[in-house]
Amino acid sequence: MTERPPDISPMAEADLHWVVENEFELHAVPWTRGNFADSLAAGYSSWVMRVDGRRVAYAVMLRVLDESHLLNLSVARPAQRAGIGGLLLRFLFEEARRGGSSQLFLEVRPSNEPALALYQGHGFMPVGRRKSYYPVPGGGREDAIVMRRAL
Ligand SMILES: CC(C)(COP(=O)(O)OP(=O)(O)OC[C@H]1O[C@@H](n2cnc3c(N)ncnc32)[C@H](O)[C@@H]1OP(=O)(O)O)[C@@H](O)C(=O)NCCC(=O)NCCS
Repeated sequence: MTERPPDISPMAEADLHWVVENEFELHAVPWTRGNFADSLAAGYSSWVMRVDGRRVAYAVMLRVLDESHLLNLSVARPAQRAGIGGLLLRFLFEEARRGGSSQLFLEVRPSNEPALALYQGHGFMPVGRRKSYYPVPGGGREDAIVMRRAL
């Protein structure tokens, strides 16, 4: 059986309402609508994935010369744990390669076990730690683990 290619298209202004709604549900310290609009205006590699015509996931990636940085990868809660994060990630590998990147970096909270498991399962290795990088709701800061994957 051949797998259908995932339905992934560039994020558009019309996606922002859905994206921001999910962002606030999924992240302790969410990006604002302005952050996403700025990313689109700046030409960041920004994507929305659909299943059966319905939006299920989104991602934002920044290319800098031969490196790409994954800034946001999110799967809507009802669509989680069905392989969608992995599919979108593999699409981003291809996309980054197409743009001339040879490595992909990201930052993740040590407390974000689902994301850590996803990234480790897709070949990312920890390469550093940024001390007190993330704000924590209610006060305080949390480190970021920096991860890298060769493309
Ligand atoms: C992290 C996230 C993107 C994973 O997306 P997903 O579509 O649920 O992931 P997949 O179904 O492709 O899972 C692939 C693997 O990741 C790991 N994983 C995903 N969710 C997990 C969970 N809740 N607990 C433990 N491992 C998990 C597993 O190893 C899984 O493989 P398996 O299902 O065969 O065990 C999703 O949970 C999410 O959007 N979280 C909120 C936003 C976020 O934290 N984004 C990352 C910021 S750095």
